[in-house]
This record gives sequence, C-alpha cells and structure tokens, in this order.
Amino acid sequence: MPWPSIADFTAAVQNPVVCFKDGDPELAAGQVGLHPARGTPLVYSGNFAAVYPVECGGGRKYAVRCFTREVKDQQERYGHLDDYLSGVRPDAFVRFQYHEQGIQIRGEWYPIVKMTWVEGRRLDRFVEDNLSRPDVILDICARWRGANGSLRGLGIAHNDLQHGNVMVQHDDALRLVDYDGIFLPRFQGEPSPELGHQHYQHPLRTADDYNDQVDNFPALVIYLSLLALSHDPGLWQRFYTQENLLLTKKDYADPANSQCFHALKSNPDATVRHLAGFLEECCSRPLEEVQDLESVLADAPSVTAASSVSAQAAGAGPPAPAAPVVSAPQPPTGLSYRSLLQGGQSPQPAPAATATNPTPASVAPPQSAVASPVMTCPQCNLANPVELVYCDDEGCASVLYPGNRFCAYCGESIPVNGNYCPECGSRLV
Ligand SMILES: Nc1ncnc2c1ncn2[C@@H]1O[C@H](COP(=O)(O)OP(=O)(O)O)[C@@H](O)[C@H]1O
Ligand SMILES: [Mg+2]
Repeated sequence: MPWPSIADFTAAVQNPVVCFKDGDPELAAGQVGLHPARGTPLVYSGNFAAVYPVECGGGRKYAVRCFTREVKDQQERYGHLDDYLSGVRPDAFVRFQYHEQGIQIRGEWYPIVKMTWVEGRRLDRFVEDNLSRPDVILDICARWRGANGSLRGLGIAHNDLQHGNVMVQHDDALRLVDYDGIFLPRFQGEPSPELGHQHYQHPLRTADDYNDQVDNFPALVIYLSLLALSHDPGLWQRFYTQENLLLTKKDYADPANSQCFHALKSNPDATVRHLAGFLEECCSRPLEEVQDLESVLADAPSVTAASSVSAQAAGAGPPAPAAPVVSAPQPPTGLSYRSLLQGGQSPQPAPAATATNPTPASVAPPQSAVASPVMTCPQCNLANPVELVYCDDEGCASVLYPGNRFCAYCGESIPVNGNYCPECGSRLV
C-alpha cells in the first residue's frame, strides 16, 4: 500500500468521525477547519507533513500533523521527547501527543501528532506584516533570544530552526512547531534524522552534526535577520524569497560575493554589522566553531542610544527594551535555572514533575553551586540556596517566593527568582 498523499489526508479529515474513529475520541468528535471561500479543509505543509486545524469541544483546537512519508523510530523519538520535557517544557514548546494509530485511510492506520494549535502567524509572515514597526521586530528579536536560551539550558536542539517552524502568537509570544528532528542528549552519536532548512544551515552541515550545538548557526541567522530588519526594513524587498528571511544557502556558500552579506555589513547598527561579520566568518570555519547565540552576543557591541532612537524614528511606538536585544551580563534566567537540571546526577528531568512545579530534586543545584545568600523557606524555615524556586525539603516543597512575579514586558508569569524572563529575555530587575 503506497503511503497516503496530502490529497488522501485532506479527503480523510473531512470525516473526523470516520478517520479518527477508534483512535482519538476527541478528534473524532471534532471539526476540521475549512477554507472560508472554497469550503475545503485548511491544510498547512512544509517538507514532511500536512497539518490540519481541528476544533473540538470546549474551545480546544489542535493541529493534526500527518506525515507525508514513512519515518522509522518516530514513535520512540516522540516518547523520549515527551519524557524529557516532562516538568521542564520550555514555553516555546506546545503540548503534543504522538498517536501511532492516528488517522485511518483505506482501512490502514497512519501516525499523527496531535498538538495544541498555535493561533498566530509564521515568523516570515509576521515580519512582513510588521516591517513598518521596528519596535515590534526588535521585540520578537528579544523573544527569540529568550526562546533559544531556554532550549540551550535544557541541552536540547530543535534541529530545524527556520521561519516555517517558528510561530508568533497573537500576543507576540513565540512558539516552535515541528519536533520531528529534535536533538536530545540520549541521541548523541546518532546521525541526524534531517538536515534542516537549506537557507538556515551552515554550508558544511551533514547528518553527522547532531548535538546540542546544532541550532547555533540558524539561531544566529534568525537573530541577525530580525535585528537587521528592525534597522533597515528595505532589506526585506531585496532579499526575502518566501523561502528564507534574508540569507540563503548561496550566501553561506560564497559570502564574499553575497549582496546580502554586503548589505548586512553596511547596516546602520553596529551590532548587526558585527554579527554579519561573525556569521560570514562562521561560513568558512568548521561548524563546531559556531558558538551559541549568548556567547556571540556577549562579544557584540551593545545597542547604542542612537540605534534605539533610529528604530523609534523609523516607525511609531516606543523603543524596544535595549537589555534583551543585545548583550546581557549573564544568561537568561531560563538558561541558568534549567542548567541546574543538568548539573545534577541525571540530565533527564524527573518524570513526576509538572511544568509549574518542578520537583525539588530535579531543580536542586549541585552542592558546589549552593552559595550564600540563602532564602529561608516561609513554611519550614529551611535555608535554601536563592537559586531554588521550591523548597529543597522534599516533604515541604513550598514555593520559596510566594506570589508569582510577572514579566513587565511580556506579562509572562515567572515563578523563577532570576534576572531575565525565560519567555522573552527581558530583564526583570
Ligand atoms: N501546532 C501548530 N499550530 C499552528 N500551525 C501549525 C502547527 N504545527 C504546524 N503548523 C503549520 O503547519 C506548517 C507545517 O508544519 P510542520 O510541522 O513544520 O511540517 P513540516 O515537517 O512539513 O515542515 C507550519 O509551517 C505551520 O504553518
Ligand atoms: Mg516544518
């Protein structure tokens, strides 16, 4: 039996009660979203999947992701990912379930991923719609930094960072989709199941490059592109092709003759010029030498008053906060907090933990990291290291800092007593 085509999946989802019957009862009772004019199912696709919005009762809406080719070990990979993220799911990830018996076509079961539907736009569409608002693009740039920090802190990599896998919600929060190729520490030494989008990857990348650093190059490409566009929106008309943000694989292959690199290195903003020069150098160096975004930004010149003013002058609205956009004196809270998880005996998060209540054991730093000052638990009086969120006494596990704080910039609720918002990267104190 040949693997179903997108047309097969599209035909099937028109009858959820049939195609999801005996699989997922919630989906079986749902309704697939229809194109308002044509009345046919809305379908979104990239390289490997057809994605359908399905509305279910109680206002719940899911993305039903059908695979357009057979992939080995997918069930196992999604299972490991789910385990790994249990309790420490970064905000950039949405909830997902892999169903081996997902959708039935001509009497055969095919797998699906059922995910929370992200209401928003793909990164490139969002950028295009906001080119005249540099403050908004700068804000997304800051959020991008925050999202990356949280992945890096967990020791994982998305493995295909690109405009089609980054969604900007209506509240401007960033969400990543497409978790097929994610790198987890347990996959170290295995070949990468995919190579990522060609216009975002290092020119020398091969399937052997599969580790927690593999997002470094595309993360920098996206950060640089957003920052550059906030200072020079005209770059979009010149270099966006519907398949990229600004740069393409041709630019990485021959930066010296790239008009785009030339334009980036002539950007009015010093940080953009610095990052463009750095990225250009990376293209001719081994991929292993590409540092993570935080390290690169630590060496970049800070945003100057002039660049904030030019961003403001180019569009309406206040300047974006300078701190999250460029160099920060220390990594975002999300990074250091989540790094604690790796400092313990096992890099795997404790299975019993939940997103808002990581188990004390899983967040406890190694003794060497425990230093004064301490935070005395309001319930049991145990002196806890200030880095902890929950009391280290397993029987107590109270919140050490009662009353969640909220990020002044994005409004995210932050139970972590640190300096940076793990959602958008803004400075909290
Ligand atoms: N959870 C989701 N919510 C909303 N849209 C989504 C979701 N997942 C995927 N999409 C849309 O479907 C497109 C293709 O999905 P993706 O999972 O990236 O498939 P592929 O593996 O083919 O790239 C995305 O670019 C996005 O527009
Ligand atoms: Mg994709």
